[in-house]
Amino acid sequence: MQKQIGQAQQETSKGERSSNIKDDINAKHKRHHINQRDQWTIGADLGRKSAKGKARKQKRKEESAKYEQSLSKVEAANQLDDPLELVKAFKHYDRNGLKLEILCEKVIHLTQELRDWVFELTKKNMQRQYEESEWGWKDKDKLAEMTEEKAQYLLAMDVTTGKPVAFVHFRFDMEFDEEVVYCYEIQLTDPVRRKGLGKFLMQILELLAYKTEMKKVMLTTFKGNKMAQDFFKKTCKYEVDEISPDDPVFEEGYDYEILSKEIKPKGATQNPKPAGECKKRSPLKAPPPCCSMGKNCGY
Ligand SMILES: CC(C)(COP(=O)(O)OP(=O)(O)OC[C@H]1O[C@@H](n2cnc3c(N)ncnc32)[C@H](O)[C@@H]1OP(=O)(O)O)[C@@H](O)C(=O)NCCC(=O)NCCS
Repeated sequence: MQKQIGQAQQETSKGERSSNIKDDINAKHKRHHINQRDQWTIGADLGRKSAKGKARKQKRKEESAKYEQSLSKVEAANQLDDPLELVKAFKHYDRNGLKLEILCEKVIHLTQELRDWVFELTKKNMQRQYEESEWGWKDKDKLAEMTEEKAQYLLAMDVTTGKPVAFVHFRFDMEFDEEVVYCYEIQLTDPVRRKGLGKFLMQILELLAYKTEMKKVMLTTFKGNKMAQDFFKKTCKYEVDEISPDDPVFEEGYDYEILSKEIKPKGATQNPKPAGECKKRSPLKAPPPCCSMGKNCGY
């Protein structure tokens, strides 16, 4: 096959050869121009790419610095011996026939008696709802959640009897890249309900969030817990958080939702609005439980 080509080349006329040479030269010039254009284009692309790369690197640096700052706020809040010292006026609740002292304790400082009490009250109030949900109820899991290292408790103690009547389990924590107060549980015994105590305890969390510069107060609640839904949404003005799981196909897909309330930072024009007194809030950025699996649910 190669031989045949060679022969054919020798047989071409002079004129044909010269026009072939011209074509060759033109083709070389064309290649040269194309190469040069490509180099300019590649050069410009590289310039653009490196500018974009620099911007991305800078953005990553800023995000990482912001995350570190948020984390140190959470760590500082967790170092507080008694967060209630920041809101001394909220250490007593003397309203609607209740005379209570509010205490704040880290879980490691709770007596075994109090640990048993918070667990049993939660079980009494919530077990049925858990069992009706996809989570189910397991003593062991709930106990582990309630005694996790970062867990802190607001305890409402009856001044007359010295006995606990209500509690809140909360944590200063990072939720994705935001510093938050996460309310894992708010549980009142029957006799102290509808006396404003629940609202008062949520107000304490909001004020603690404000004082420690957390971005919001978050919680998880069962959609079917009408009492909690009314209480959090209507009374305390919590909204569905943007990280709340949302099933676009099945409306009944998730039986819980994540609620939150933004806390205006210190120095902002408005102070944080206590539960029940805030107007419509701006849409919130940003998973899970006040009654639940929360972070562990893997939604
Ligand atoms: C939900 C709960 C924390 C509310 O606390 P509370 O002290 O009873 O509530 P407050 O007195 O502060 O209520 C303020 C308002 O919330 C709303 N609210 C409270 N309980 C309600 C209920 N059972 N049904 C409808 N609305 C209710 C009302 O608007 C009420 O105002 P009102 O009493 O003037 O009508 C408490 O009832 C409780 O511990 N329930 C059992 C455990 C539970 O479900 N916890 C929430 C899990 S996420």
